[in-house]
Amino acid sequence: MIKNNNLLKNISKCAKNEIANIYHGTRSRLDFTSKRLNDWEKHCIKQIHLNSAFVIENYWSREKAFRVRDKLEEFHDRNEPFVLGNYLKDELVRIYHVERIVPELKEFRFDPFVLKIASAYNGQPSYSGALVYQYDTVHGRAKSHYHVDTFTRQFKSMMYLDDVNNGNGPFSYIPGSHRKRSLLIKKQIRGNDNNKNNVFDEDEITSIKNKEKQVCMPAGSLLVFDTACIHRGAPQEERSRSVLMNYITPIQKELYLHKQIPSL
Ligand SMILES: [Fe+2]
Repeated sequence: MIKNNNLLKNISKCAKNEIANIYHGTRSRLDFTSKRLNDWEKHCIKQIHLNSAFVIENYWSREKAFRVRDKLEEFHDRNEPFVLGNYLKDELVRIYHVERIVPELKEFRFDPFVLKIASAYNGQPSYSGALVYQYDTVHGRAKSHYHVDTFTRQFKSMMYLDDVNNGNGPFSYIPGSHRKRSLLIKKQIRGNDNNKNNVFDEDEITSIKNKEKQVCMPAGSLLVFDTACIHRGAPQEERSRSVLMNYITPIQKELYLHKQIPSL
């Protein structure tokens, strides 16, 4: 039973999200930048439209991915305030704005290919808000809940610095679920009494759960996806996993500056 005030709040938020979705969807379809896209770029965008996510293997060589991973792991036991989380006991370690400590990562943060397809997907110029390093340890044991990051389109790119298989928590998602608007509208209105509103109970997605896909890929693979698709993380049962996450938004603004970050 949804309380009346929550119901009104949920309906109002849902209406705003759905209008934003229609607006960005229309802009993206009109695709002001499409003339400047080559066939490969158009293919990537089409895949995200259809399937929510797209993987490009060998975007970096495995060697480069491992080199960057090893360089970042050196920071785990340095006593720096911007290293968030303890690799010996916590579920994850993060470093926000990581290119400040490894300047060569600026190239990845501002990668013209990724920003170009993000801009075309969003239907407007888009920018990197933050590059974040994440090291998932073997200390997290539970599979995360099915969720969306937002109910409106949001582009994210991830670079895998480890080979990923069932032993170290492959990204798991339901292809095309960002387009299941009636299911997403119902969810936004219903909300969630026991968790955040963007978290789904398994019985809310029974009609599409069988489509869930796990992404196993070699280090150096690039994953681009819309975080409005239903997804979850599997635990690192055997080995840790390192990734770089690039948060891309249509607003040119540095994100997460309230976190502890390396000084310039
Ligand atoms: Fe997520």
